[in-house]
Amino acid sequence: MKPVLLDCDPGIDDALAIALAAGSTDIDLVGITTVAGNVGLSLTTLNALALREFLQLGDLPVHAGADRALVRDQIHAAHVHGTSGLGDAVLPAPVLGASDGHAVDFIVSTILDRPGEITLVAVGPLTNIALAVRREPRIVQAVKEMVVMGGSYTRGNSNPAAEFNILTDPEAAAIVFGAGWTVTQIGLDVTLTAQVNAGLLEKMGALGRLSSLVVPAASFYGQVTADGGPALHDACAVAYAISPELMGFTDARVEVETVGRFTTGMTVTDFRSDAPNTRVATSFDVPGFWEVLLGAYGRLGER
Ligand code: BDR
Ligand code: CA
Repeated sequence: MKPVLLDCDPGIDDALAIALAAGSTDIDLVGITTVAGNVGLSLTTLNALALREFLQLGDLPVHAGADRALVRDQIHAAHVHGTSGLGDAVLPAPVLGASDGHAVDFIVSTILDRPGEITLVAVGPLTNIALAVRREPRIVQAVKEMVVMGGSYTRGNSNPAAEFNILTDPEAAAIVFGAGWTVTQIGLDVTLTAQVNAGLLEKMGALGRLSSLVVPAASFYGQVTADGGPALHDACAVAYAISPELMGFTDARVEVETVGRFTTGMTVTDFRSDAPNTRVATSFDVPGFWEVLLGAYGRLGER
């Protein structure tokens, strides 16, 4: 099984991504690190801890990380994810607390202890990952793959130019894209095509106790119709880690705008560059994605 470390800010689609990782038979989730993003760090960490217990992940390490962006005032997305961060889903309060030690140290030690093995999947603002690169640059060579849900080459979602995870901490994102590794970027261009529609929501309502998480979470996140609904951005990145063949990629040089008047947080993507730093996801097998997701959720629902 592929060892995966997930850095996240749960967050509705983060929660649905954690559930996907938990139900997968192809990846081994070795830890969760949390960052401020959709809601504040205390809530993203609380949600990760509640999910660990609800999903019966035992003593899986959960480490809290950065509580603010590197240099900017923190922004949140409670208007999208609800004040708790999990929409209308209400999980039992967790019994266990977070693991000792900062997320950044856990990221560094996990990668350096298993050189060439760990797939690092970041589905929140990139603050923890940037700090980890600065703390221990050897992780750039030692990681197996750096997967980022964030950015886009066509549009933003927080504003016309910028996607939320990049906009929240553009300086961190600039460090991560410029670190010297090849980033695998799963951006809005593909994730916006994976929308929970009414038929999918109905299937999610037949997943036993798991339904009490995924249905109120997903339906809070956006209006579900016969043809469309909220996009499960972060679950797309985990699905890629499970089944890389679901996506097609084009190499490009991605630079993160940090000083734009209207474009701060934009991932400026040059597909013509002869110095690419990123594999940009440009196609997505969406029916295949739902098969992977519902298969994993089905396994969890039986627990
Ligand atoms: C990203 O922003 C967050 O609100 C989501 O959790 C996802 O990681 C999508 O733009
Ligand atoms: Ca997220």
